Amino acid sequence: MSTVLAINQLGKSFPSAAGEVHAVRDVSLEVAAGELVALRGPSGCGKSTLLMAAGGLLEPTSGSVEINGTDLYSLGQDGRAQFRAENIGFVFQQFHLIPYLDVRDNILAASLATARAEGERVDELLEIFGLQQRAHHVPAALSTGEKQRTAMARALLNNPKLILADEPTGNLDKDNAEALLEQLSGFSGKGGAVLLVTHDARVDDHAGRTIEISDGNLVS
Ligand SMILES: Nc1ncnc2c1ncn2[C@@H]1O[C@H](COP(=O)(O)OP(=O)(O)OP(=O)(O)O)[C@@H](O)[C@H]1O
Ligand SMILES: [Mg+2]
Repeated sequence: MSTVLAINQLGKSFPSAAGEVHAVRDVSLEVAAGELVALRGPSGCGKSTLLMAAGGLLEPTSGSVEINGTDLYSLGQDGRAQFRAENIGFVFQQFHLIPYLDVRDNILAASLATARAEGERVDELLEIFGLQQRAHHVPAALSTGEKQRTAMARALLNNPKLILADEPTGNLDKDNAEALLEQLSGFSGKGGAVLLVTHDARVDDHAGRTIEISDGNLVS
């Protein structure tokens, strides 16, 4: 299958009072169409940093990210935002829902940048994730698991090429975690690429590959 995501010798450091923090040191990895890859490692080892850089949200200090052959950080900010909206679904560790929109509109927000009408698809996703009864609640009125499922539905809405998800089952019970993993498996089964940060052992049943990261480096 063809490569969707190519991370090449990516490094990211942050300045801090105690000197530079090397969150990601020198990571190269590829995720192909149809692949679901799990990324695992201890807290603070750089998983979220790597995922954000892979998704065009955090410019790396060194190295590059290509998605379907497009070098993300050679695009300008606007070009990158547009590219992201059309190609990448992102599930954040902290969800990043829009506080004043209800669940339905939070999911639909993913289609604003692409200007597609997605009414039917959003109804389907509300049903898949058991959110019909919550469609008109704002995030503040949701449980953590409901926020997580809303974030996942939003990531799937535009039928992206790549889904990047940071601990997407972290706050879900067994049934909801299984349902979410089924959706991600189904997405990769239809040719999507998935890179997933997780500590959840259930993901092993769905992942084609698991990559370990430690202190900003891949461990083979
Ligand atoms: N904006 C920032 N400024 C300074 N340091 C940062 C920043 N973001 C992350 N770091 C540091 O980079 C390292 C990696 O952080 P990151 O959030 O990527 O870890 P993680 O593997 O996702 O951890 P967790 O499993 O707890 O979510 C940590 O030492 C963190 O403190
Ligand atoms: Mg993290």
